[in-house]
Amino acid sequence: MDPDEPDDLMVPLKEKSLGGWGLLQIAAGTGFAAYVMWAGFLMPGFRRVPLKLQVPYLPASLAQVDNVMGLLQGRSGKLVDLGSGDGRIVLEACRQGFRPAVGYELNPWLLRLAAFYAWRAGYSGNVMYRREDLWKVSLADCSNVTVFLAPSVLPLLQEKLLSELPEDALVVAGRFPFPEWTPIGTRGEGIDKTWAYDIRVLRCEKDRRSGGTKV
Ligand SMILES: C[S@@+](CC[C@H](N)C(=O)[O-])C[C@H]1O[C@@H](n2cnc3c(N)ncnc32)[C@H](O)[C@@H]1O
Repeated sequence: MDPDEPDDLMVPLKEKSLGGWGLLQIAAGTGFAAYVMWAGFLMPGFRRVPLKLQVPYLPASLAQVDNVMGLLQGRSGKLVDLGSGDGRIVLEACRQGFRPAVGYELNPWLLRLAAFYAWRAGYSGNVMYRREDLWKVSLADCSNVTVFLAPSVLPLLQEKLLSELPEDALVVAGRFPFPEWTPIGTRGEGIDKTWAYDIRVLRCEKDRRSGGTKV
């Protein structure tokens, strides 16, 4: 046998099959690596958030950011991104004059990355990234809110936004619309699509549906 022949080199491998135990070890190793990735980098800081409210990180596309800002055109004042990730929406909002521009985020790696991007762009002093659970912060003074979260949490978020936001607030949702709300405008298509909601209009609609009148 010539060990330099490729076929001959494969013989020991062919003879030594992995077997059930080997496969189990590979599966366990892969599962553990995936768990470390999930717990260590994607979802650290989420221990106190109920499982059904945990939303993993997925950055908005450049077109999505552009569509969000397009729907906010002509507005000013405070802007808050709920679950701000690497801060791309907050930073763009700051560039376009929103003050203060605030991001709430639980993942400490993403908060550091966001701070680095803000520093690199020369906006360190103008943006605020806070390590806060978006379900626990008060939104009473936020006139501009941006959201890119999972569809499963949007029904609950609808309630929070409707009960806390000021009357003149505009909410812009990226990629997934709020299930029960009627938007006043949309921008973009497919995964980059964004929806704008006027809180005053939504409250009027809600009152009309429940047969009440607003004073
Ligand atoms: C789909 S990503 C969107 C990131 C960013 N807004 C963007 O558009 O690029 C959702 C983000 O929300 C954060 N997040 C999820 N639940 C949160 C919570 N309860 N409080 C604060 N941040 C949260 C996640 O860590 C993740 O970075």
